[in-house]
Amino acid sequence: MLFLQLLLLVILLSGGDNKNDFQEPVSFQLIQISSFYNHSLEENLGSGWLGELQTHGWVRNSDTTIFLWPWSKGNVSNEEWRDLEDLLHMFSIGFLQIFHNSASQRQLEYPFEVQLAGGCELHFGKASVGFLYGLLIKDRIS
Ligand SMILES: *[C@@H]1O[C@H](CO)[C@@H](O)[C@H](O)[C@H]1NC(C)=O
Ligand SMILES: *[C@@H]1O[C@H](CO)[C@@H](O)[C@H](O)[C@H]1NC(C)=O
Repeated sequence: MLFLQLLLLVILLSGGDNKNDFQEPVSFQLIQISSFYNHSLEENLGSGWLGELQTHGWVRNSDTTIFLWPWSKGNVSNEEWRDLEDLLHMFSIGFLQIFHNSASQRQLEYPFEVQLAGGCELHFGKASVGFLYGLLIKDRIS
């Protein structure tokens, strides 16, 4: 579901046409960096990237999307954006809970940071590829 929405976003942001002369893959990804300080405090920073260009931002612990370019919204309506924000919010809550649970079961020790990147890559004339990467960093924040 989330993957399909992201895929749609890539198509809309990249113009939805096949006029890409370079035939390079277009990717859109969301990156979330979560710093876990203790069982009641964590800080989240989100961003959206079309290739190497940042297109969207989410400020600390807020679900409201910041559109960095006039076209960042694509053709997605406000209502559809709110749906996408709700979906990301639900996903984020579940994901944060998993790490807090690991910490409460002493599999992880505060503080730690988790970086998550998920999105999809669109190859013209080929199937698109979804991806999700995670990175756990310890001893970096204090
Ligand atoms: C986006 O909306 C504009 C104007 O409403 C329309 O002309 C255009 O074809 C739409 N593009 C896509 C990819 O749906
Ligand atoms: C969590 O960490 C913050 C910042 O270091 C601190 O202010 C807060 O009291 C801590 N909360 C608990 C429950 O330890």
